[in-house]
Amino acid sequence: MRVGIVGLGTMGTVHAAGYQQIPGCQLVAVADIQQDRRERLAQQYGVRGYASLADMLAREDLDVVDVCLPTHLHREHVEMAAAAGKHVFCEKPLARTREDGLAMIEACRKAGVFLGVGHVVRFFPEYRRAHEIIQAGELGRVGTVFTYRGGGGFPTAWQDWYANYQWSGGLTLDLIIHDFDFLRWTLGDVERVYAKGTHGRTYNRLEHVLVSLRFKNGVIGNVEGTWLNVGGFGTKFEFACEKGLLTHDSKAASGFRSYLQKVQGTGAPGVAVPENPLDKSPYTLELEHFLESVREGKEPMINGEEGLASLEIALAALESIATGKPVVVGGERGVEG
Ligand SMILES: NC(=O)c1ccc[n+]([C@@H]2O[C@H](COP(=O)([O-])OP(=O)(O)OC[C@H]3O[C@@H](n4cnc5c(N)ncnc54)[C@H](O)[C@@H]3O)[C@@H](O)[C@H]2O)c1
Repeated sequence: MRVGIVGLGTMGTVHAAGYQQIPGCQLVAVADIQQDRRERLAQQYGVRGYASLADMLAREDLDVVDVCLPTHLHREHVEMAAAAGKHVFCEKPLARTREDGLAMIEACRKAGVFLGVGHVVRFFPEYRRAHEIIQAGELGRVGTVFTYRGGGGFPTAWQDWYANYQWSGGLTLDLIIHDFDFLRWTLGDVERVYAKGTHGRTYNRLEHVLVSLRFKNGVIGNVEGTWLNVGGFGTKFEFACEKGLLTHDSKAASGFRSYLQKVQGTGAPGVAVPENPLDKSPYTLELEHFLESVREGKEPMINGEEGLASLEIALAALESIATGKPVVVGGERGVEG
């Protein structure tokens, strides 16, 4: 499998390292509009560097394109890769809008290529185990669920795109979509949401969001996301079930943690990526799963439709924050935040 990555910021760097650990695949090229970034990674991995995906596609013989670009650029680049006949792995969220997401799915379907979406939380062992326990009914029926995700380090990135709501969708679309995806995978579809957020009341780097979800099976969920917790990045969940409680707190589980100041221009991650003591990180496992699916000609677990379904929950939450009303999930959105 010959892989090329476009977008060499936080995630492109993580993915490039991940491919080195996957047997049967080879990172052969990288692309980024920033010369220093593409040269650094090209040199580090002994691959060729390009200024754009178009250049990379014109000169390289690739099987897979991995899109690690800011969210608003996903559609254009996924469509370009699909039109060139490449399988595509795209970072989450699938897209900034439903329309873009649908177009990406259609482009890959038409081209006969697989589309995988980076909802990596499904590959974190504590989340995977909780999914198995709940699905097996070991704790009986679920009544309510709470999840938390956040930290104090608002992401720093190319052109400060995370602070641009039209590009990133803020933390609802960017961060807690991880929880929406995990919960939908574990508990099934969501019927409607009601959300409150600080967007529009403070400046974009001070964001806190609370989303209540009603699942089709009657479970009530509460998802909290924040960039205001100066205690550092962490995640939690709590399933209250018929026979007991299932909880996780990333800070309780990890024995060692360091909080380092970010230094501009060093290539240090601009957005918190949870550390992991395992041999292969969940980021590597998700890429390995995608490549295996492609090799075997099977749909990847998190395909375009899965990515779209989780995106629709986030878009409904954005609409609820904007309108102050409960919103039914799915279909055309009047307001996209
Ligand atoms: N799965 C996760 O846990 C996770 C974590 C962080 C980010 N993400 C997602 O990954 C994606 C990328 O986020 P990031 O934090 O790595 O962003 P980033 O800003 O760190 O990196 C983006 C890179 O894209 C480059 N770029 C911009 N326009 C380009 C173009 N037209 N052609 C080539 N290169 C271009 C920039 O120079 C930059 O290097 C986003 O969709 C984000 O939501 C996922």
